Amino acid sequence: MNPVRSPKKILITAALPYANGYIHLGHLAGAYLPSDMYARYQRLKGRDVLFLCGSDEHGVAITVTAEKEKMSPRDVIDRYHHANREAFERFGMSFDRYSRTSSPLHHETTKEFFMEFHRRGLLKQKSEKQLYCEFDRMFLADRYVEGTCPVCGSAEARGDQCENCGSWLNQTDLIDPRCKICGRTPVVKDTTHLYFPLGDFQERLEAYVKERDARDGWKENVLRYCESWFREGLEDRAVTRDLSWGVPVPVPGFEQKVVYVWFDAVLGYITAAREWAKEKGSEEKWRHYWQDQNTKYVAFIGKDNVVFHCIVFPAMLMAWNDGRTDTYVLPENVPANEFLNLEGQKFSKSKGWGIDVRDFLNYFPADYLRYGLATSLPESRDSDFTLRDFQARVNNELADILGNFVNRTLAFAHREFDGKIPPMTGMPGPQDKEFLARLESAPDAVGGLFEQYRFRDGVAEAMNLARAANKYFNDQEPWKTAKTDRAACAATIHHCLQAVYTLGILFEPIVPRIAEKIRAMLKAETPVPGSWDSAGKPVLKAGHSLAKPEILVSKIEDAQLHSVMKDLGLETGPSSLQAHNAQQRTMITIDDFKKIDLRLAKIISAENIQKSEKLLKLKVQIGEEQRQIIAGIAKTYEPERLIGKFVVVVANLQPAKLMGEESQGMLLAANDPEGRLSIVTIEDDLPTGSVVR
Ligand code: 2FM
Ligand code: ZN
Repeated sequence: MNPVRSPKKILITAALPYANGYIHLGHLAGAYLPSDMYARYQRLKGRDVLFLCGSDEHGVAITVTAEKEKMSPRDVIDRYHHANREAFERFGMSFDRYSRTSSPLHHETTKEFFMEFHRRGLLKQKSEKQLYCEFDRMFLADRYVEGTCPVCGSAEARGDQCENCGSWLNQTDLIDPRCKICGRTPVVKDTTHLYFPLGDFQERLEAYVKERDARDGWKENVLRYCESWFREGLEDRAVTRDLSWGVPVPVPGFEQKVVYVWFDAVLGYITAAREWAKEKGSEEKWRHYWQDQNTKYVAFIGKDNVVFHCIVFPAMLMAWNDGRTDTYVLPENVPANEFLNLEGQKFSKSKGWGIDVRDFLNYFPADYLRYGLATSLPESRDSDFTLRDFQARVNNELADILGNFVNRTLAFAHREFDGKIPPMTGMPGPQDKEFLARLESAPDAVGGLFEQYRFRDGVAEAMNLARAANKYFNDQEPWKTAKTDRAACAATIHHCLQAVYTLGILFEPIVPRIAEKIRAMLKAETPVPGSWDSAGKPVLKAGHSLAKPEILVSKIEDAQLHSVMKDLGLETGPSSLQAHNAQQRTMITIDDFKKIDLRLAKIISAENIQKSEKLLKLKVQIGEEQRQIIAGIAKTYEPERLIGKFVVVVANLQPAKLMGEESQGMLLAANDPEGRLSIVTIEDDLPTGSVVR
């Protein structure tokens, strides 16, 4: 095993997703979940972490989408940037900054690098042949041209890259190229660009990869990709493009062109740190991470980004560092995952095969998804995500092992020890000692795997601890000793509660919201930097009182799974999902919308309904009229809290009977899959009966 360098300061980046589509499960399994587990773990270890991401908003990925969706590039990036940032938040990503490459500050960062290289004479001007579409009258940069990949034969290779085999291509190498806009065959024409001398860096790059691998253990798949590029030999690469969307080239004579998207995208990580520092009110603080050779920089990506992060970006940073004293750190490691398939087939935007994070989180809590993905990460080869496996992982592991152990331990402590941590009297026996030793070594066992980017194994190790804890509980039979040997019973439960605490820390990087619930049930203190190392020690004191146990994880029933699979179009393969996606986008006309009579109403009385935990009986005032509405909000709202609130009701819904009571309308409320709920209220004091639209 390689010695792993873990200094105090860690800079973590996750690939900047293009703001041209919604984040799907494949993205999460590639760069995002691993990076978030790593960041959360490192914070608990007490390391000084800066975790950055943002939207990649330039390049042809954006302009092609804009043309297809008949929007401006600006509208495209605004739509997807905000949606993706929100999806990441819901998923529990703990970025310190989620930036975007269209920001003025990012243009500044990019121009600074570009001009530095230009001033030092690094960028060569060359006239070369490029594909040009005579019909659309433009040079077909990057994704504007598609064709057959000369390396693997995939028919869907793009001008700059083949997603199938990961090759980085020159567009003129494509076999049977076609214009992405009109489908016609382009012609070859000369155009002048500025080139970055990548070939000049080959020797140093090879030494760099070798050195970092020896120091931090690079993944096999990543090393293989690097080797194949080195074997082919690196060449000069054009860093300008004949496009109008992007960072304008700051060199005189090139103002009509833009900087190649990959040149600016990787610098987005630096911009994100600069923005973070600005927001913190200490503008230079970003240098504390980026420009201190004691920082360990780890760049999480998907396999299709390897060349840009292991070769292009380090070469750019080397080039900068050669002529400056304000030098940057290079990635210490670039843990790239392979691809995640869905139900045995590749995620594909064009075939409409995939699940957006936003959609999935409407059905299941984020932590279920995190666990389901964490146990099937494509770490060394492509892996498959199926809803059946997902259900099995949630039910058989998260609920039956972790949830069950936490629940039975707390329930027992409440039943037998008055909801307090029982004292330890007497000496621990051999089984107790063995269990305590296991607890003590667990943080290093799990953490050691996370340090090596073996997240699947780390997660399995954490779940194994919960498994061992259940076994200890069973073997000790506290339900028997409760009657025969109170001291032994107290010791067992004392140790089990310590184990619950350990699990509440070790599961934090994996399922942060569940871990938080565990700690809340223990009334444990909020974890602090360093909590990881003490997680296996006897942190809880005898006599400390506990909160009531709650169900941590609810099982996913077959019926629910079926209905979700049907909703998501996963039952019969890509064609049905495509139909689903098309259907989801079905638009209604304003006249359809007008059929719903939404009115402002004021709640004048509210009471519980006997024998119903969910329903409340409300009386609301709508203009002159009073109505009775039965609303399923009793789990969230005490009746008294509702009186006087201004709410929105559907006033023309056919009356219905619920628990024998007539409901003459419906109250609008938002809810999430975790079961949280909020009624829709109105900010200003308008007359009741006002129309809402
Ligand atoms: O492949 C992608 O989705 C790119 N937008 C990743 C960019 S990573 C970094 F360079 F910004
Ligand atoms: Zn064309």
